Amino acid sequence: MGISHLHDVLIIGSGAAGLNLALRLPDHLKIAILSKTDLSESNTYYAQGGISAVLDRKDSIESHIADTLNAGAGLCDKDVVRMVVERGPANIQWLLSQGMEFTRRQEPKQGYHLTREGGHSHRRVIHAADATGQMMQMTLEDHVREKENIDLFENRNAIDLITGHKHGFKDNRCLGAYVYNGETDHVDTHRSRCVVLATGGASKVYLYTSNPDVATGDGIAMGWRAGCRVANMEFIQFHPTCLYHPHAKSFLVTEALRGEGGKLLLPDGTRFMPNFDERAELAPRDIVARAIDHEMKRLGTDCLFLDISHKPSEFIQKRFPTIYARCLDFGIDITKQPIPIVPAAHYTCGGIMTDTNARTDIPSLYAVGEIAYTGLHGANRMASNSLLECLVFGETASEDIVERLKSISTPPEIPNWDETRVADSDEDVVVSHNWDELRRFMWDYVGIVRSNKRLERARRRVNMLRQEIKEYYSTFKVHNDHLELRNLVDVANLIIRSAMRRRESRGLHYNIDHPEIDDHGQLSPTIMIPDNYSPK
Ligand code: FAD
Ligand code: SIN
Repeated sequence: MGISHLHDVLIIGSGAAGLNLALRLPDHLKIAILSKTDLSESNTYYAQGGISAVLDRKDSIESHIADTLNAGAGLCDKDVVRMVVERGPANIQWLLSQGMEFTRRQEPKQGYHLTREGGHSHRRVIHAADATGQMMQMTLEDHVREKENIDLFENRNAIDLITGHKHGFKDNRCLGAYVYNGETDHVDTHRSRCVVLATGGASKVYLYTSNPDVATGDGIAMGWRAGCRVANMEFIQFHPTCLYHPHAKSFLVTEALRGEGGKLLLPDGTRFMPNFDERAELAPRDIVARAIDHEMKRLGTDCLFLDISHKPSEFIQKRFPTIYARCLDFGIDITKQPIPIVPAAHYTCGGIMTDTNARTDIPSLYAVGEIAYTGLHGANRMASNSLLECLVFGETASEDIVERLKSISTPPEIPNWDETRVADSDEDVVVSHNWDELRRFMWDYVGIVRSNKRLERARRRVNMLRQEIKEYYSTFKVHNDHLELRNLVDVANLIIRSAMRRRESRGLHYNIDHPEIDDHGQLSPTIMIPDNYSPK
């Protein structure tokens, strides 16, 4: 039998979003943080480049706003962009107050080193060498581990949200979640006065990705099934430069390497980005990824190259120690030779719709971080704006939660998970086959370049998979791979349907049958409304 838990705030996810939010809540609240594997495994941990914020006198809030809007290709919510950018510097101060260490300039009195990335017209990315996420994750983790009011639950896979309507209550507020406990092999019931989805993105829906295995879009799928609207799922960001090596799983080569002078090269050593955009290697990511894809297809080659070897070896090793070491593991000395690279799925710009306090459509349910569609990123996220978004919405959500909890009562008793489905699957091959099939057709048909025909093919396939998975789910006992597949298929369905709705090419969505941007008809987000959506 599963165990029953009760908290004031249940946070599903232990990356930057979940942890910073938890730390901002007052100590009198009882908080639970769930993590699918161990606490550290998250997109956050692997973030390299840094966090964007206006920290230099020569830079300005207006410039950061203008760059974000420009990268977002007309679809950003201007008020949200302003709110996030304006709160940037104070949020970096908050991180510093937590003990986060950033790389300093060489001259001690000159403060922190700021790097540049695509789309930014100034140096405004503060970083911890090339392992900013690891430093941030560890800093925040150290604090949550010390807090007596925070209970940490590792190896917990949230299956579905518990909402009032599902259990026959009049009030449809979120009451908690059913959670598969990987340590007992049972499903626990987590009741809570308020629930925060901080489960990150969904890039594992693609065959090639920079993301770790936990990024299976669980929160987006759970929120959607519970009745939340989801927006802009067609805008999946492909990072231009992931290491290409048969044994290198998901290793990113940061855009900051181009920010410090790295050049993209064809196999014969020719530079090509100036032919595609005047900003060359520092054009926004959608442009660089598409240019690489175009050149790879034109030349029929498996990868292109990124070269920083013209810079002094000492500089490279000090500025990019993680990348230097990782590439050396594969026999590539980046101080002497170019790095083989390919684009890979990297970031989910769309997600569960929220307001500026991270509230979703369901009362008592919040969504923070990569899972959320806040309006900040529009059709293409600018580099290093994501960790910033996690911080800012962690801050606004925590303030709102404290206020709202004053009038939210303890949730009622809820029936335990139905454990009558006890049959162990004798057909695990169905799950592994469908995982592979899904990720491959998403890569081939719903990738960097799309067409009506490819999207239609993908739609047919995803419908079949959804049916098969539904049957499997209603028959067999749940387990991690199956739960993740169920979520990935729901997310894939949302991506495909959103992509079919957008009959133009904008930002990260490029369809060869609609190659033009349509500023008359399509200047709004693509909103998907679930059948069980009930407006507040
Ligand atoms: P995550 O950090 O992904 O955390 C998600 C959490 O949810 C994990 O703890 C996971 O275990 C948990 N979870 C998921 N599903 C479940 C479930 N069903 N039950 C329980 N728990 C669950 N952005 C920047 O701004 N700057 C950068 O330099 C940068 N570099 C990046 C480099 C890489 C390689 C990658 C992959 C991303 C990078 N990004 C960067 C993007 C950024 O790191 C992420 O968008 C951000 O960290 C997301 O934080 P999050 O807290 O929303 O989600
Ligand atoms: C990178 O370092 O290139 C990733 C930055 C980001 O995704 O914002």
